[in-house]
Amino acid sequence: MKIIILGFGAVGQGVARVISMKKDYLRSKYNLNPKIVAVCDRSGAAIHEDGLDEELLLETKTGKGKISLYPEYGIPGMDSLQVLDEIEYDCLVEVTPTDIDDGEPTRSHIIKAMEGGKDVVTSNKGPLALSFQELADCAKTNNVEFKFEASVGGAMPILNFAHENLAGCHIESIYGILNGTTNYILSRMANEGSSYEQTLKEAQEMGIAETDPYQDVEGVDAACKIVILANSVLNLPVTLKDVEVEGISRITSESIALAKKEGLLIKLIGEASPNALEVSPRLVSQGSPFAVEGTLNVATLKTDLADEVTVVGKGAGSVETASAIISDIISIWKRRR
Ligand SMILES: NC(=O)c1ccc[n+]([C@@H]2O[C@H](COP(=O)([O-])OP(=O)(O)OC[C@H]3O[C@@H](n4cnc5c(N)ncnc54)[C@H](OP(=O)(O)O)[C@@H]3O)[C@@H](O)[C@H]2O)c1
Repeated sequence: MKIIILGFGAVGQGVARVISMKKDYLRSKYNLNPKIVAVCDRSGAAIHEDGLDEELLLETKTGKGKISLYPEYGIPGMDSLQVLDEIEYDCLVEVTPTDIDDGEPTRSHIIKAMEGGKDVVTSNKGPLALSFQELADCAKTNNVEFKFEASVGGAMPILNFAHENLAGCHIESIYGILNGTTNYILSRMANEGSSYEQTLKEAQEMGIAETDPYQDVEGVDAACKIVILANSVLNLPVTLKDVEVEGISRITSESIALAKKEGLLIKLIGEASPNALEVSPRLVSQGSPFAVEGTLNVATLKTDLADEVTVVGKGAGSVETASAIISDIISIWKRRR
């Protein structure tokens, strides 16, 4: 399977690392031989029809900072759309940064690949939260696979889990902690009695919160994931503007202490159901499955047959998120065969 990776940051590099680590396993278990034929970052691209060396890709990016400096096959200045025209491939792995204003350039990358008859895997929430139906329709029209497990909860399996393991169930609602940064902040505030401002500052110093934390702390990131779950699992054709959103920036250490006295925790919870599309701080019991700490994500799916099913997992991380992308690639490979 010939793969193009657009974006070579934490997730793109995780994908290359996993392909390098799992080569023998993928071949022996699935008869799958993934070949990375092109990689693109903002400096340009590296392209080779016989396949690029994963370890050399990683070495080039970490050592020189630019994938276009890949020996012999690097092309400085070549942009992502050009790359899609330049070389024959089977599957696009789209892992550029999330944009929630217009979803670009990811939306254009995905549509171009699909219109060219290529399967697509992405971890990028932006275009899914803004234009889910357009992208799903485009995949259908062009008879290609479109998979995005990593876009919700990173390594926490939820989309494929809902579609495959719970295939016979009607899923009525989904609610969960879908943002690791806010869970980390709220967990530390509860454990240490620290203020929101101080905890956010420390989370930023540790690289857990972004320099501009707006999308995480104001609930926008979780709202994007609620939109994806609502569309993909509940069949609700909604977009980001349909979600009621309140973040955690007004939560005080006093309110957390008060909740704690009652055996409760404050968590940022997202909910998707036909009656509610919402992200807001809510109270959960200390012993409940929602009492997860640190950057963990958790989600409960309420079903007609299996009652409630809860999944927990790492919502971020290079190799962790790549695990979801690889699972999508394997699933596409199985279907194509
Ligand atoms: N990190 C996680 O744990 C995680 C988990 C779940 C989902 N996601 C999502 O996965 C996506 C990738 O995340 P990340 O953490 O890997 O981001 P990242 O570390 O910021 O990497 C983004 C990469 O995209 C490249 N890029 C930016 N604009 C581009 C363009 N126009 N054409 C080609 N490449 C471009 C960047 O190039 P330069 O290297 O030259 O800057 C960089 O290599 C995001 O949408 C994110 O929301 C991330």
